[in-house]
Amino acid sequence: MTPQNQRIVVTGGAGFIGSHVVDLLVAANNRVVVVDNLSTGTRRNLSHHLDSGNDRSHAGRVALVEADVTDGRAMNDVIADADVVVHMAVACVRTGIGRPLHVHEVNVSGTLNVCLAATRNRVGRLVYVSSSQAYGTAQTVPMTEDHPTEPTTIHGASKLMGETYTMLMARTYGLPVVIVRLFNSYGPREPALGTGAEVIPKFVLRTMAGARPVVFGSGLQTRDFVWVEDSARGIVCAAVSDACLGTVVNLGRGQEVSIRQLAAKILAILGRGAESPIFDRRRPGDVERHRADIRRAGRLLSWHPTVSIDEGLRRYIDWLVDSGIDADAWLARDERRNW
Ligand SMILES: NC(=O)c1ccc[n+]([C@@H]2O[C@H](COP(=O)([O-])OP(=O)(O)OC[C@H]3O[C@@H](n4cnc5c(N)ncnc54)[C@H](O)[C@@H]3O)[C@@H](O)[C@H]2O)c1
Repeated sequence: MTPQNQRIVVTGGAGFIGSHVVDLLVAANNRVVVVDNLSTGTRRNLSHHLDSGNDRSHAGRVALVEADVTDGRAMNDVIADADVVVHMAVACVRTGIGRPLHVHEVNVSGTLNVCLAATRNRVGRLVYVSSSQAYGTAQTVPMTEDHPTEPTTIHGASKLMGETYTMLMARTYGLPVVIVRLFNSYGPREPALGTGAEVIPKFVLRTMAGARPVVFGSGLQTRDFVWVEDSARGIVCAAVSDACLGTVVNLGRGQEVSIRQLAAKILAILGRGAESPIFDRRRPGDVERHRADIRRAGRLLSWHPTVSIDEGLRRYIDWLVDSGIDADAWLARDERRNW
């Protein structure tokens, strides 16, 4: 299920997951306008669409508008003739620890701007990409969409507030909306440096550079890791399926992996299975347990994840090697910082 021949605005489309969403939308002949302030996203993530001479068949299908979601007027202008808006721009979870008001501004005020522009311009659909962080830690597993939402981070709270505004627009003004709650995604183009760098790139690159992964806390905390191309396909399905209108849908793998297990898998794949990670103190607000119930996504979106964690880790490592990354140079720049 993919929208076709539509004009689709993707906020945050130069980022990790957003750029994969753009790939799928372009492949289905949509015209895509990416709205991004390039704070963590890069032009390089979209270069295969933007640079002339690469793939002529897709030439001109993607436009990049450098704008900030906190700029209400800019959002109104860019969304003016959109059929669909996929809202993914975000200030990430670790940014929330050091800069909570900034996170609020981007994730809450920015989302309200996008919601207002979508409502004012009567777009056909708004897909709000939310996060499993909105749940907080699991009280029961697997976590259905009705699981309590008790976030433990500023970021999680801000994503939940974004959901509240999105649903309000549907309830009060009739805006057709879908909320997807995405669990931890990983794969090509995932940021490896700075506040956006997540556990998998860090563990893999440290191991490739001859160092050991650094686990914050006991390592018994779990995450539900989903391959980024599966995540992007789920988001695109949500942009077209009528069955999911007005609902919240989880996108995860449906399996939990502890951070210790993750480190062990990566060490083993890279031929260092006899070694163990380094342990450091727990990160504030770190979620203890996540495992998604993904039956609703199967029912409403006909969406099912296709890539196991073992397969995904191998694919990601292959992608890093093919990209010619210099793990030693990466390690020299990496900050071991527990926020
Ligand atoms: N990565 C994950 O595991 C994960 C998990 C759950 C939910 N999500 C959600 O998926 C979406 C995409 O996340 P991602 O991991 O690709 O993050 P990302 O940081 O790679 O992408 C976010 C994009 O938003 C842009 N951006 C940030 N602030 C902006 C602003 N003020 N105005 C305009 N653009 C701005 C960044 O430049 C970047 O391109 C987010 O909504 C996030 O909450 C991600």
